[in-house]
Amino acid sequence: MHQIKLTTPTGDTDIDVGELLSVRLPGLDPSPILLVDENVLSRHNDLFSQYPCIEVPSGEGNKTLQTVEYIYRELVKLEVDRSSLLVGVGGGLTTDVAGFVASTYLREVRFGFISTTLLGQVDASIGGKNGVNLDGYKNMIGTIRQPSFVWCDLSLLKSLARKEYVSGIAEIIKYGAIRDVGFLQYLKDHMSGLLELDIGVLEKVVTTSATIKVDVVRKDEKESDLRKILNFGHTIGHAIEREKKVLHGEAVAIGMVMAAKLSQTMDLISGSDVDLISDLVSAAGLPAHMELDPAVIFQNIRKDKKKSGESIHFILLEGLGNAVVKSIPLSELKKILHDLC
Ligand code: GLY
Repeated sequence: MHQIKLTTPTGDTDIDVGELLSVRLPGLDPSPILLVDENVLSRHNDLFSQYPCIEVPSGEGNKTLQTVEYIYRELVKLEVDRSSLLVGVGGGLTTDVAGFVASTYLREVRFGFISTTLLGQVDASIGGKNGVNLDGYKNMIGTIRQPSFVWCDLSLLKSLARKEYVSGIAEIIKYGAIRDVGFLQYLKDHMSGLLELDIGVLEKVVTTSATIKVDVVRKDEKESDLRKILNFGHTIGHAIEREKKVLHGEAVAIGMVMAAKLSQTMDLISGSDVDLISDLVSAAGLPAHMELDPAVIFQNIRKDKKKSGESIHFILLEGLGNAVVKSIPLSELKKILHDLC
């Protein structure tokens, strides 16, 4: 098992990466109340059903204040008070909602996460941003509050749908691209092991990804500057997600390849650097390209950032493993998207 500690002004998180971590639930003090993704609960009833459980409905459409309100009412019924411990169990949607509920109910109840998806383990459960969508706008309402612990239980990944597992690999490639060129090389050499859920490879990959995220969040918890680099591939990725029926990781994969190409156009990286990212994306079984309407993508980026004029912060690569934040005027972005799509 690997342990990583995140220390921030708003709190500390102990992150554990390993197998069968969920069996530690009986050791928690106080005994927890679980907020569990509905699918995870039906798949792993044996692990969780002996605890008071509130089912969190799955699907992005349920990441709303209505779901939060429903959970508050269930907490009242269970007589949860400030001495209780809430544990969110599921992927990024569940942990985002659970973290938001825990940070606001009675002005804060202690909470932790059991992260059950690859995307959740390497990204969504770490960093303290919790929240819900509003009228289709992602994560408009939220808090930054660190969970006390995150357990990345690798044994739960075996029951994930294949497409969902592969989608998580996009964020893993992202960490190498923005921060660690050696990790990109490791991924190139071990992609088949990762796809086969080889436990040694998974441990290394989840631990390295979580460590990179922790390092960035520790330095800039509130995203005033450095933390923006975690959005590499996400500006275009979110615009694709609004438009096409694709998973988050699939959209981010396409967004990363486009951002890498833009970095090449600006002479910040070479063609072979772009190929390394694109080849990794393809080796993982993720899309590296998609037919897109540049005008629609541009409008979606504007909507996502609530921007009408001025410029946008875009994450580019100035060499592999070195992400930089560049301000690009929206008028220029429009032309760039025309060339990239
Ligand atoms: N909860 C995800 C993050 O803080 O980035």
